[in-house]
Amino acid sequence: MTIKGATVNTMDFAVETLGPCTVDSPLAPRLELRGTTQHTVSETDRVLFDDTVSKILQRTPVTGQDGEPADLPSLEATGPRRKIFFDPAKTRVGIVTCGGLCPGINNVIRGLVSELTNHYGVRRIYGFKNGYQGFVPRYGHDVIDLTPQAVEDIDGEGGTILGSSRGQQDACEIVDCLERMGIGILFVIGGDGSMRGAQKISAEIKVRDLKTAVVGIPKTIDNDIPFIDQSFGFQSAFSEATRSIRSAKVEARSAPNGVSIVKLMGRHSGFIACYAALAQNDADFVLVPEVPFTLEGPGGLLHHLRAKVADQGHALVVVAEGAGQELFDDRDGGATDASGNKKLHDVGRLLRQAVTEDFAAHGLELNLRYIDPSYVIRSVPANPYDSVLCARLAHAAVHAAMAGRTNMVVGRWRRRFVHIPIALAVSARNQVDPHGDLWWSVLEATGQPLSLGQVQAPEPQSYSPQ
Ligand code: F6P
Repeated sequence: MTIKGATVNTMDFAVETLGPCTVDSPLAPRLELRGTTQHTVSETDRVLFDDTVSKILQRTPVTGQDGEPADLPSLEATGPRRKIFFDPAKTRVGIVTCGGLCPGINNVIRGLVSELTNHYGVRRIYGFKNGYQGFVPRYGHDVIDLTPQAVEDIDGEGGTILGSSRGQQDACEIVDCLERMGIGILFVIGGDGSMRGAQKISAEIKVRDLKTAVVGIPKTIDNDIPFIDQSFGFQSAFSEATRSIRSAKVEARSAPNGVSIVKLMGRHSGFIACYAALAQNDADFVLVPEVPFTLEGPGGLLHHLRAKVADQGHALVVVAEGAGQELFDDRDGGATDASGNKKLHDVGRLLRQAVTEDFAAHGLELNLRYIDPSYVIRSVPANPYDSVLCARLAHAAVHAAMAGRTNMVVGRWRRRFVHIPIALAVSARNQVDPHGDLWWSVLEATGQPLSLGQVQAPEPQSYSPQ
C-alpha cells in the first residue's frame, strides 16, 4: 500500500518473534478477563492503521472485493501475553541509552526496571554506559546493576543515569558482549540513528542464530519518528520552550520597534516550534524546515516583519533550527555529525543579520533580542504527561520482549499502544504537513501569510497524526 508516496507493504507491519511462547506468564492469572474494549486491545486482536472511512474504502483494491476486515493494514497491540518466550528467573536484561538527550529517559529506565522486577521477577538487569560504547571493551566502561532501589529516585532528573553518546559501534562487537554476558533481552532507548544501530544488532543476532530480543523505545524531542502519535519527551521540551517565547514577547513589546527571535531545536521537523508557538500564543511568525520562505521581496519575511512592527509596535519570530536552509549556499560539503545528521547552517544568525540590515536600510529604529534556549529544552525532567507516557511505553516494551518480540519498537498509534518493526520506524521521517491541520492551526494563531515568498513547499514526509 502507499502512504504519502512511500510504499508500505501490509507485511511491513509484521513483527519478528524469537519463537513460540511456551512459558506461563506470571501475569496470566490477571489476564483472564482481558479482551478488547474501548480501552484495551486483546492479544489476538489488532489495531487498524487507518481511521477514516475514505482511507478504508481506498484499501478495497488491496483487500479485493471480497476482502476481509482482517486483511486491512493493522498493527500488533502491546500488552501482557498469557504465554511468554523467556523464563524470567533465567533471563538477563540489558538497557542502553543512545543519542541526544530527551526528557523522560530516566523515567523509561525506571519503568523498565520496575516492570521487569515487580511483575516478571527478572533479577539481573544491567545498564550499559554511554550509548553503544558501553558494549565495546576498548572504552572500558563498567556496567551498572539496575535494581528497583537503584532507580527509585531517578525520574525527577533530566538526562540519563546511564550516560549517552552519538555514533554507531560495530554490531559484531556489541553482540559479542551480549553473548559473553548471556543477555537475553536488550532495550535500546534512542533516536532514529540508534534504532538503525539496533536493527544491525538484530541482524547480527539472527546471523548467529541467537535467541536475544532487541526492543526499542524511540526517543526524540523532535517528534520525527514515523508511525507514532507523539514521542516521549516532546511535550516536556516544547513546554519548556514556551518560557523563552514568553520572555521574548516581554522583551519585544517593552522597547520601541522591538523584534524578538527565538530559535528552537528541530532539525528537519518543526513540531517543537509549532507546538510551542501554539501553547504560548505570542508569535507573529513561525518558520519551520517543511515550509521554505524567502527574506527579500514584497512577499518575503522582511517585508511582512516590517509591516507587523509598523502595525503593532513589535514582532516575534519563532524559528526552528532547520528552517531556511534553502537560503544558504551549501558550502559545507554535506558535513554530518557522529549520528549521520547533516550539520545545519545557523538560521538564527542569518535572521539577526538580515533583520538588522533591513531595518537600517529603511531608516527604522530596531531593538532586536535573540533567544536560543538550545539544550535547555531537552535537559529538563519529563513533565507529568510525559512521565505517564514513558512509564506506559516502558511497560509495553517489557511485555513485548518477554513474549519474544524483537527488532521492533513500541509506540502509540491513534492512542493505542502498538508494536512497530524497527524497519518501519526508520523508513522515513515524520514532518509537519504544510497542508495539514497542525500547520493550519499555526497560521490561524499567528496570522502569518500562507506563504512567505513564492516558494514551493516540497512534499513533506508525514506519517503520523499531528
Ligand atoms: O535530534 C534531537 C536534537 O535535539 C535536535 O533537535 C538537535 O538538532 C540535536 O538533537 C542537537 O543535538 P547534539 O548537539 O547533541 O548533536
